[in-house]
Amino acid sequence: SARQILDAIESQFQLSNEALIEIVEKFLEDFTLGLGEYNHPMAMIPTFVTGVPNGKETGTFLALDLGGTNLRVCQVQLLGNHEFTLRQQKYRVSEALKTGEATALFDYLADSVDAFLTELPPSPTDAPADPFASSNSLELLEPTTDLNPALPLGITFSFPVEQTALNEGKILTWTKGFSARNAVGNDVVKLLQDAFDRKHLHVRCVALVNDTVGALLSRAYTAGGCILGSIFGTGTNGAYVEKVEKITKLGDAPARKRGGDMVVNCEWGAFNNTRTTLPTTPFDNKLDRESINPRLQAFEKFISGMYLGEITRNILLSLVDAAPKPLLFNGRASADLNKHYGLDTAVISEIEEAWETGRNGSIPESKQVHGSNSTQNAAVLTNGTSTKSAPHFTEVDKLSAEDKSRLERIRNIIIQRLNIDAADVSLRDAAIVRWAASLVATRAAKLSGSAVAAILVQTERAKLGGGLVPTEEKIIIGVDGSLIEHYPNFNAQLRACVRGLVGEEVEKRIDLGLAKDGSGVGAALCALQATKQGH
Ligand code: BG6
Ligand code: GLC
Repeated sequence: SARQILDAIESQFQLSNEALIEIVEKFLEDFTLGLGEYNHPMAMIPTFVTGVPNGKETGTFLALDLGGTNLRVCQVQLLGNHEFTLRQQKYRVSEALKTGEATALFDYLADSVDAFLTELPPSPTDAPADPFASSNSLELLEPTTDLNPALPLGITFSFPVEQTALNEGKILTWTKGFSARNAVGNDVVKLLQDAFDRKHLHVRCVALVNDTVGALLSRAYTAGGCILGSIFGTGTNGAYVEKVEKITKLGDAPARKRGGDMVVNCEWGAFNNTRTTLPTTPFDNKLDRESINPRLQAFEKFISGMYLGEITRNILLSLVDAAPKPLLFNGRASADLNKHYGLDTAVISEIEEAWETGRNGSIPESKQVHGSNSTQNAAVLTNGTSTKSAPHFTEVDKLSAEDKSRLERIRNIIIQRLNIDAADVSLRDAAIVRWAASLVATRAAKLSGSAVAAILVQTERAKLGGGLVPTEEKIIIGVDGSLIEHYPNFNAQLRACVRGLVGEEVEKRIDLGLAKDGSGVGAALCALQATKQGH
């Protein structure tokens, strides 16, 4: 029966606490493996960032940010009192650039910096774009007669890069739909600097940072400390502060001999690529098989904005095609629903939002989950209420008038965004679409929570299963990305999962906040650290 088919799908998306515990245990094993040896898929990359800022840093830097929904160029001025000012421009990166020749992509990056400097030249009131002027770095004042030093720039490059220094690192692989040729194996800083030089731009790339590291550093700058920076957006990943002695693969490299801490970029999107522990369904298999990187980024494909819409689409198509009788849209899909990646995560987010806020009668605007292009970020995360996936309402007739009107709104979104013929979309179909989306999103939020819990256990701030760690300290975490910022209930469900894994006492101490403009500020802070090191 219909009910059995829906129930069977639902059960495949359930994640018990036991299953989540197993995932955390696997995370801990893989952390140790990746810290011990190079060439693990979850790469546990030493970033050569050896401390987090305290908010007193000053200086003005350019930052370039590639790898999220938008390419951004910004100029960041660190004011030294936990505050900063930032001016930025966003640019689009076309599919052709993502998948063409690397030199074309890097030329485009250089062009966008050029355009930024032309459109928004440093104004006379800005401090000179000169880190050497700050008291932080006086000792570095270069003995040069160059009265016009190159503008220092930090790049936030949100892909796996094996770093060998703050300003040096080879691209390990592309993720998130990028596949530009002749980039993997090459140094990002050199690729970018060569492009600047080809265009005779007076800009010097001094630091390279992952977006997770940017989130970590910028949250530390504004909040006075931070232990984990993490992204839940187009992709997902985390970077945390680790004891250098645990990064055994550094051997007796000078960085290891110095001891102390170092930020490690986990690249947790590649956690469990063998999928021995991840709760894979046929809908995930289909997504993976048809992706440009099959068997890679397994964890990310369960979680991030690039993929949630697509998993949902796979579920919906299976219901359109259900035998002996179609269970959705009278068995008729649309060109959009049939298209690979034809259901954007922004749309399922909008559907969830319509359900959540439908009471006041308005259809909320599309919320800029992956792919769309609105501008201003909200500074606060909504905690939401629901931590469960939606029911599939086998009996829509029995719903309250209010719930029916919420479903009516969802129905309209389906008709508008997926171009399904209105005659083929019933209220029950609307309920089923919302149900499918919430299965996918709830699972994603829980898996995200398990990654966060794993970091808390790894850094000895929590015990798996909930034992107490004797401290009252706040646990500061910086996050960024369209999912955590905009997807209804994502943050609440993530936290609920962490609570289930490490206990309420620890979860209550977590101060999880948006690292607003994290990449720009993070890149600036890294550029500052790099200039201090004399790069
Ligand atoms: C942005 C950061 O705010 O968030 C990027 O500037 C980051 O560096 C991005 O990659 C992640 O979110 P999304 O949703 O744009 O992928
Ligand atoms: C992908 C990238 C990773 C990045 C994450 C979030 O997983 O490989 O480097 O941090 O997306 O943008």
